[in-house]
Amino acid sequence: MAGHCRRFPGYAAGGQGVIGISEKQGCLISVEGIDGAGKTTLVGIIAEKLKEEGVPARVVREPGGTLLSEKIRALLLHKEPGEGPELAYTAEALLYAAARAQLVAEVIAPALSRGEVVLCDRFTDSTLAYQGGGRGLNIELLRAVNSLATGGLTPCLTLLLDLAPAAGRMRLKSRGQENRAPADRLETESELFYTRVRQFYLELAAKEPQRVVRLDAERPLEEVAEKAWAAVKKACQRASGGKITCGLAE
Ligand SMILES: Nc1ncnc2c1ncn2[C@@H]1O[C@H](COP(=O)(O)OP(=O)(O)O)[C@@H](O)[C@H]1O
Ligand SMILES: [Mg+2]
Repeated sequence: MAGHCRRFPGYAAGGQGVIGISEKQGCLISVEGIDGAGKTTLVGIIAEKLKEEGVPARVVREPGGTLLSEKIRALLLHKEPGEGPELAYTAEALLYAAARAQLVAEVIAPALSRGEVVLCDRFTDSTLAYQGGGRGLNIELLRAVNSLATGGLTPCLTLLLDLAPAAGRMRLKSRGQENRAPADRLETESELFYTRVRQFYLELAAKEPQRVVRLDAERPLEEVAEKAWAAVKKACQRASGGKITCGLAE
């Protein structure tokens, strides 16, 4: 149905039978952008606002969110010096996909089928932007891998936090040094890599304007959050057929 989250054709067709899809319709919202753009901060703000509105919402971060996916996260993001050969780009892409597949099956699909809003701190577009735009892997193959991992699930809304790589790097540097995790593999990539990732995201926003909303992440956080919230309200209303109103008059 127009405006609804795309369901899980792979599952709905009876292919897997692992996910019981009810008639309830949730809303999947992803937040994308380069490292330091403000994704995690924004997801927290939106989750809080949804809570205030009494809307059942679930936050997940990628890669992660299940036992298996967190183990894969550790493999992907933290590499000790001298810990063996570099991860091949294709292996990296498939590990992200495996983590995502488990997250969809265990957490996202059940939450959506209960009619909840699911906020994803990164989702399928990260694979396209990082492994495709950044690493140069074949985009159509990556789309197929995404589709296999998610059963074709596509967000109702994607908030793209657009920021220049240099600004993102500055923010990461100043992000609470005391509780700062060690730099992960992707954070140590070159500025050129991030420029390609950003460019890919921008092209995606231009190609899919109904789904991908670009927000200028250079702007003050309050302003970014306000624009994001307006987009979230609209998407929730649309996806739930008016059931989730997020404080808007019915
Ligand atoms: N619009 C903004 N303006 C200025 N600083 C911001 C803004 N959004 C986020 N930040 C700050 O930038 C840093 C990185 O944000 P974070 O949410 O961790 O980014 P990401 O999850 O995209 O890597 C944090 O210290 C955060 O407080
Ligand atoms: Mg983050």
